[in-house]
Amino acid sequence: MKKISIAIDGFSSCGKSTMAKELARAISYIYVDTGAMYRVVTLAALRAGVMVDGEIDEEKLRECVNNLNINLDADAKVYLNGEDVESEIRGLEVSNWVSKVSAIGFVREKLLDIQRELGASKGVVMDGRDIGSVVLPDAELKIFVTADADVRAKRRYDELLRKGATATYQEVLDNIKMRDYNDLNRKVSPLVQSPDALLLDNSYMSIEEQNAWLLDKVNKVCNQL
Ligand code: DC
Repeated sequence: MKKISIAIDGFSSCGKSTMAKELARAISYIYVDTGAMYRVVTLAALRAGVMVDGEIDEEKLRECVNNLNINLDADAKVYLNGEDVESEIRGLEVSNWVSKVSAIGFVREKLLDIQRELGASKGVVMDGRDIGSVVLPDAELKIFVTADADVRAKRRYDELLRKGATATYQEVLDNIKMRDYNDLNRKVSPLVQSPDALLLDNSYMSIEEQNAWLLDKVNKVCNQL
């Protein structure tokens, strides 16, 4: 069967990465988690002391980004200069800064080049905020995922608790609302549903229902090629 590009965009903590990864595995495609790339840049910036008094020093950030080496392994895991930073990039400190870092033009330019290269050949599932609109505008299948903010906060809170992190439900909800606002309102590549994207509201869907919904859409597009 002919391979296609699949763009999955949507709000924070909708389970996009999990669904995209699972879909890629089910249909033997490559999976690319672009949010993890922005998180790695944010972690590198935090470590380099780029955030001072609650603000980003853009010159320092530029230097940090220029010296950054982001690698992906076959499992789509993202590395910072060869170091496995998976658990650190999912923590609250990175989550609190990442939407500000990802709103900066030169950060997006650097990652856009890497993402376009990864998406150059078909057979890729890529998830993020601007995949259907900017990174892979020619993707044959575009999905825009959403869910109620309360449902997303509960899922994220449970996940953090399972991992042993200390955060209150209110902190998690506030972080999600703040990221929604920043993602929707930033000047460069804001979160937007492409007119040709299919809407998936998974607030009250089980993982199985969601997987079946996605596979059905993939099959429909592939059968039309
Ligand atoms: O999907 P995520 O929550 O791991 O993404 C982390 C942050 O990165 C999110 O707040 C928005 C930003 N992001 C982006 O601006 N563009 C993308 N393509 C992916 C993520």
